[in-house]
Amino acid sequence: MSARTRVLIHGASGRMGQALLRLGANRDDLEIVAAVSGRAPRQRVIDGVPYFGASELGGVPAFDVAVDFSLPAGFDPLLALCVKRGAALVSGTTGLEDVQRAALDTAAGSIPVVWASNFSLGVAVLRELVARAAAMLPGWDCDIVESHHTRKLDAPSGTALTLGEAAAGQGADPHYASIRAGDIVGEHLVQLTGNGERVELVHRATNRDIFASGALHVATRLAGRAPGQHAIADLLGATPGRERGG
Ligand SMILES: NC(=O)c1ccc[n+]([C@@H]2O[C@H](COP(=O)([O-])OP(=O)(O)OC[C@H]3O[C@@H](n4cnc5c(N)ncnc54)[C@H](OP(=O)(O)O)[C@@H]3O)[C@@H](O)[C@H]2O)c1
Repeated sequence: MSARTRVLIHGASGRMGQALLRLGANRDDLEIVAAVSGRAPRQRVIDGVPYFGASELGGVPAFDVAVDFSLPAGFDPLLALCVKRGAALVSGTTGLEDVQRAALDTAAGSIPVVWASNFSLGVAVLRELVARAAAMLPGWDCDIVESHHTRKLDAPSGTALTLGEAAAGQGADPHYASIRAGDIVGEHLVQLTGNGERVELVHRATNRDIFASGALHVATRLAGRAPGQHAIADLLGATPGRERGG
């Protein structure tokens, strides 16, 4: 692996992709070597970064790790490319089918991968708090209300499902409600309701840069590590991956 982690951005023209490109350009521990979107780009090179359409994926230059914030339709070809090239994959794409999650599990046998519904530190903490609260309040109703911008396609959000899994793991039976309104970046309310009292745990993201910078940080730590499904929590404070002699 070269000194600077070589990163491919997948979903480059999207809201997250644009944040990843902007923040990645200011980091000296990585180099963005390719930007891939669904449609073929009008401009082939921007600020020294070559741009590709999804149908041109096979022609991208060598990379150490792909950072994917796209749509489920683009996931399978990218996963196959990472396996073929022996590159790591960091994905935040939500709404994946079960068969796609299973393919990710299989790929983790040969490459290092991280998939997370949310790359923010605050949500990682919220998840722990939800599990603790659900364990301490058996039999209480558990409702998760998530709010996002009107262009978000999947519902409930991947983060709501992750929080629900944390609660269900402690015996709760979570129910979900989704709001699509305006330009909301992402809000998650976990409400535990008993008789005559209610506990509310809430996280509000006001800027999607938190997800982008978290994903880039994880990418630099994941590249070069052993194959397997890695957890964000294990990589947040870690030094850059060097397990495979890179
Ligand atoms: N895990 C997290 O922390 C987190 C945070 C925020 C968002 N997300 C998730 O990240 C994903 C992207 O969100 P966004 O708001 O940036 O969406 P967006 O603005 O709609 O962007 C989607 C991107 O995917 C590309 N794309 C579509 N089909 C593709 C294909 N077949 N192959 C390759 N690229 C393809 C689009 O390219 P074209 O424009 O050319 O079609 C575009 O660049 C969503 O799944 C969202 O839920 C996750």
